Amino acid sequence: MGAITAHDLDIPTLDLEFEPDREVASATLRAASAQTWIARNPLGYSILHYDDVVAMLRDKRWHSATSKIMEMSGITDPQYTSRQRTSILSAEGDEHTRLRRLVGKAFSPRAADRLRPFMREVVDGLVDTVAPRGRADIAVDICEPYPIPIICELLGAPKEDWKAFSRWATDVLRIFNGNLQEDLPTIVAAQDELDEYTRGLIAARRSKPADDLLTDLIAAEEEGDKLSTAELVMMVEAVIVGGTDTTRNQLGCAVALFADHPEQWKLLAEQPELAGRAVEETMRSFGAVRGTGRFASEDIEYKDVLFPAGTFIAPSMATANHDPTVFARPEVFDITREPAGQPQLTFGSGIHYCLGAALARAELQEALPILARRMPDLALDGPVTWKPNAVGIFGPEHLPVRFSPDH
Ligand code: HEM
Repeated sequence: MGAITAHDLDIPTLDLEFEPDREVASATLRAASAQTWIARNPLGYSILHYDDVVAMLRDKRWHSATSKIMEMSGITDPQYTSRQRTSILSAEGDEHTRLRRLVGKAFSPRAADRLRPFMREVVDGLVDTVAPRGRADIAVDICEPYPIPIICELLGAPKEDWKAFSRWATDVLRIFNGNLQEDLPTIVAAQDELDEYTRGLIAARRSKPADDLLTDLIAAEEEGDKLSTAELVMMVEAVIVGGTDTTRNQLGCAVALFADHPEQWKLLAEQPELAGRAVEETMRSFGAVRGTGRFASEDIEYKDVLFPAGTFIAPSMATANHDPTVFARPEVFDITREPAGQPQLTFGSGIHYCLGAALARAELQEALPILARRMPDLALDGPVTWKPNAVGIFGPEHLPVRFSPDH
């Protein structure tokens, strides 16, 4: 028997695009995943089981949907469409392989480890500002500011530029807010300023190398091949787009989860060596990036289903992270959980697997035990409000907590 075309599959339709309640959305996806590995959604198909999410993310014929954001948002004005540049997030094939080969070493765990003392300093400094009060909005006071100095230190940007970076990061990230028609002029202006700033930083590092990521990227060379200035600028933007809102929201999701599980928080405060496992378990249980998008670059047959070229799929990492065939009792949040042998999928899988995973892990592994040690009796001090569910990166907007003041 030949393959059945995806369009003809007898599968449920999930319409969660504008579902305002995250828990309803997650519960619907998980309930569907008990019945089927694939469901229809308004743009294409949701992929729900762990093995299929991994298999499809590892299949290079499925291309990143990043390059389609403008098209999918109905942007046709050449003033904007002509500016579209290939980034590491949207590159495919040989172009992507070359970029990953050139930049890979600069993002190694060892490179991330260089920043651990600085990460601790930043977290302690942020806690210092709220500790005497015994009250904080973790999302606003800790998570929001945390990644900016780290990314600046990583790149070698001086402290006086942190504010500008924070603004550029916020504006460039509007690309994922689902309001592109309105936001494009702001995004474009931020990109232009950031480009100009980065070109200045590159020129400075070329004449005076330092111990930072930018210097490593400038020096990166494989068989005589090097990154061009335009590619260096693109990488800096990718680091800002990929490395700020993700980390801050993941930290917020983690603390919100711990606030619901005080015994786990206490355990982390007493045993900071559990930080590594705690990060994997919080990302499995409650990831800030819940899914991604791919489209078929050609006709693709998978599991006897034919996906015609152009078909859009949304691999749901969040649902896969609760797949009971991989994670025993997936609904239980337990930072002493034995590793499942297969990783949590919040960093993705395949060729676009998060380039900043080592850095993000280090940031979370340093922040969580410090927060647990300095706020061991942390408890919610009002309702948590969440970012809109439709936004790609998810986390708390406000996370009010109280704890014993520390002087
Ligand atoms: C907890 C924090 C983070 C999460 C949950 C996260 C998640 C992800 C995911 C899911 C992808 C793959 C997207 C896809 O396949 O469509 C990705 C890619 C990427 N991430 Fe992260 N990320 C985090 C932190 C960071 C940091 C700190 C950086 C940079 C310093 C970074 C830089 C990147 C880049 C450059 C890519 C594109 C890689 C490629 O396409 O080859 N991320 N990230």
